[in-house]
Amino acid sequence: MTTQSEAVPTTVSAAPTEQPLLEVTNLRKYFPVKSSGLVRRTIAQVQAVDGVSFQVPAGTSLGLVGESGCGKSTTGRLITRLLDPTSGSMKFEGHEIGNLSPKQMLPYRKEIQMIFQDPYSSLNPRHTVGTIVGTPLRVHKVVPEKQVLNRVRELLEVVGLNPEHYNRYPSEFSGGQRQRIGIARALALQPKLLVADEPVSALDVSIQAQVVNLLTDLQKEFGVAFLFIAHDLAVVRHFCPEVAVMYLGKIVEIADRETLYNRPHHPYTQALLSAVPDVKQAAVGGRRERIRLEGDVPSPVNPPSGCRFRTRCWMAKDICAKQEPPLLQIGPKHKVACHFAGEYGAMPTSPITLNVLGVDQEGTPVAGATPSAEDLNEPGFADTWTDVETLKGNSAPMATSLPSDSRPASEVGSEDRGTRS
Ligand SMILES: Nc1ncnc2c1ncn2[C@@H]1O[C@H](COP(=O)(O)OP(=O)(O)OP(=O)(O)O)[C@@H](O)[C@H]1O
Ligand code: SF4
Ligand SMILES: [Mg+2]
Repeated sequence: MTTQSEAVPTTVSAAPTEQPLLEVTNLRKYFPVKSSGLVRRTIAQVQAVDGVSFQVPAGTSLGLVGESGCGKSTTGRLITRLLDPTSGSMKFEGHEIGNLSPKQMLPYRKEIQMIFQDPYSSLNPRHTVGTIVGTPLRVHKVVPEKQVLNRVRELLEVVGLNPEHYNRYPSEFSGGQRQRIGIARALALQPKLLVADEPVSALDVSIQAQVVNLLTDLQKEFGVAFLFIAHDLAVVRHFCPEVAVMYLGKIVEIADRETLYNRPHHPYTQALLSAVPDVKQAAVGGRRERIRLEGDVPSPVNPPSGCRFRTRCWMAKDICAKQEPPLLQIGPKHKVACHFAGEYGAMPTSPITLNVLGVDQEGTPVAGATPSAEDLNEPGFADTWTDVETLKGNSAPMATSLPSDSRPASEVGSEDRGTRS
């Protein structure tokens, strides 16, 4: 086993990082599961969000993507403080908001607003649009009462609705129009951050594009930042320069858009991407190789040991059950949590995490090995990273950790890959 200083070849990115608008570190939300009966004891915990870290820079967008039940909405609700975190930190413009009381949170509520998934249930059917959009203005006393109506009209116009429809009820609007009302309500307080929880998934495809274009225009005009939650990668592709992929309460890969879509390293991201229609490939008669995930998402009450994706991963080996893969930075803006991170068709034959964890190929701790002191839960990207390409190529720094049959990436063939069609 090599020491950490020998083991991690690095390259340098000089870009200085500005203070992010939102910084989330090691955020957890466990929901208690109670027993039935008179005395209701906590008998288990739903690990809905389990140690996620990310940053949202001002005026830009981070996409948060994953299957149903992976913890996306819970993350959004924690950030807007509709839920209290179990542990972890959330800093807005450098101020900790995770432990604020409702009263202390009041000024931040103006700055962080939410757009909800379902435009049908998120608007009160008994209130007119004027009341719905005007309520935040009244509650936070943003404008004098007699100016509220004018401001509501302006907001309706901004989101592309007829300003004279302020006295209509939600039932008199289509789904796309209702979502625009929800966006107008979220914009009323001129927030700096919008948590958009699947804002288009309840809409027809043609309307989805209109609403995403509206959000793009609003971002350009008002400089508002987005945490954009979606369950597939196609929706966030054009909107988010950075995307995080979640699986069962954890971030498994986070990268800038180009890297994530062109060179995903986590098998789960690869599977999600294989389901996204690729127009360019279709135009030349090609088709992205489809990876079909087998089995259901395991229960967040009792997640699998080690890597939570292992029960559905075609590449899983012994180490995957024993050791949780750390979210290792493998590029200037690329982190991945997989022992065998590699591009399509290029899986390393040896885990890339051995030195970081201080374990052998099977995941058993090596006596005397020094695991990495790196804080792998740091949000954002460091200016040094582990160079997976060099490891695959069996370069000098990892030589003692790699097995004797280590092959360069290009020689690792399809026999190492899983169920594809
Ligand atoms: N109040 C709650 N009490 C107990 N469990 C909860 C609660 N809210 C959410 N959960 C559980 O937490 C997990 C994550 O739920 P969450 O709604 O965040 O998922 P999601 O990724 O938004 O899914 P979807 O795509 O279906 O909206 C799920 O297993 C869910 O059942
Ligand atoms: S750590 Fe193992 S089980 Fe998890 S994604 Fe990577 S190869 Fe698959
Ligand atoms: Mg949700």
